[in-house]
Amino acid sequence: MTNKLITDDAIACNTLAGQLQLNAFYLRELAPPSAPETIPLAADYAGILGLETAWNDYEASRIELTDVPANAEQFEEWYIALRNTHRKEVAPFFDFLAEDASLPQLSLFVSLEAQVDGRFDDIIALSQLGMDGDMKLALAENYWDEMGLGDVDEMHTRVFTRAAPYFKEQLGDLDLDVHMPISALKNGNLLLMYALRRQHVGRLLGALTLLEQTVPYRFTRMLKGMDRHNVPKEHRYYHDLHVPVDANHGKQLVARVLLPLARQNPRIILDLCEGCLIRYGIEKEYYAGARSVMDRQLH
Ligand SMILES: [Fe+2]
Repeated sequence: MTNKLITDDAIACNTLAGQLQLNAFYLRELAPPSAPETIPLAADYAGILGLETAWNDYEASRIELTDVPANAEQFEEWYIALRNTHRKEVAPFFDFLAEDASLPQLSLFVSLEAQVDGRFDDIIALSQLGMDGDMKLALAENYWDEMGLGDVDEMHTRVFTRAAPYFKEQLGDLDLDVHMPISALKNGNLLLMYALRRQHVGRLLGALTLLEQTVPYRFTRMLKGMDRHNVPKEHRYYHDLHVPVDANHGKQLVARVLLPLARQNPRIILDLCEGCLIRYGIEKEYYAGARSVMDRQLH
C-alpha cells in the first residue's frame, strides 16, 4: 500500500493535475486574513506532503552535484560559474523573445510569469524568517522595494496586476488554463514550496538569488521585444522597474545573505547549491515548454 502511494505521488508530481493541486494548496496557505475559511487545516496536509516528498526526490535525482564547494569562497566561484553557464544556455530563448517573437508569443510568456511574480512579496517575506542582523536588513530592503517603497500603487504585485490584462488580451482565444505548460506551474510552485516549508530555507535562498540576479538580462531582452511591438509604456513599467532593482537585489543576496550563511555554517552550502541547480533545471524546462506553446498555438 505504501509503495503504491509513493508510486502514485511520484507520477502525480509530474502531471498537470498534481501541480495544479499543489498550486491551489499553496494559494490556500497564502489566503488573505479576510478569508480564513480557505486556509488549510492540519488534516489537509497529509496528501500534499506526500506529493511534495515525491517531487523533491524526483528533482534531487535530476541534478548533478559532484564537488560540493567546501567553503564560502569556493561557493562564490561555483555560483559565478553557474550564473555564466545560465546566461549562455537561456540566451537562445531570450534572443527569440527580443528579436523574433510576435506580440501574442511575448504576451504568453509575460502571462505565464504570473505564476511567480503574482506572489513574490510573500515569498520574500517568508525568506527572512529566523534571520537577524544585516542579513535580515538585506531582505527587508528587498521587501520594501516590493512594497513600492511605501506607495500602494507602486507595490510590485499591483504594478504586475495592472499590466496583466493587456498581455492577456493579446492571446486572443488561447485558453491559458488548457495550454499551461506543467513546467510553468513547477517554476512557480517550487518557490512557493521552498518558501512555505522551512526545511527548504537554504534551497529557497539559493533559488531566489539565481532568479533575481538573472532578471536584468531576461527582462532587458523581453523589453527589447516589447519595444519592437510598441507596447505602451505603462504596460512595460513592471519590467522596466525590475532591471535596476533586481540587479541590486541579486548582488545584495550574494554578498549579505548567501556568503555570510556559507561562512556561518558550511553545511548549508549543499542546500544553496541544490536550490540553484533545481530552480535552474526547472527554469530551462519552463522556457522549452513556453516555446512549444508559442510555436504550436500562436503566430
Ligand atoms: Fe519586484
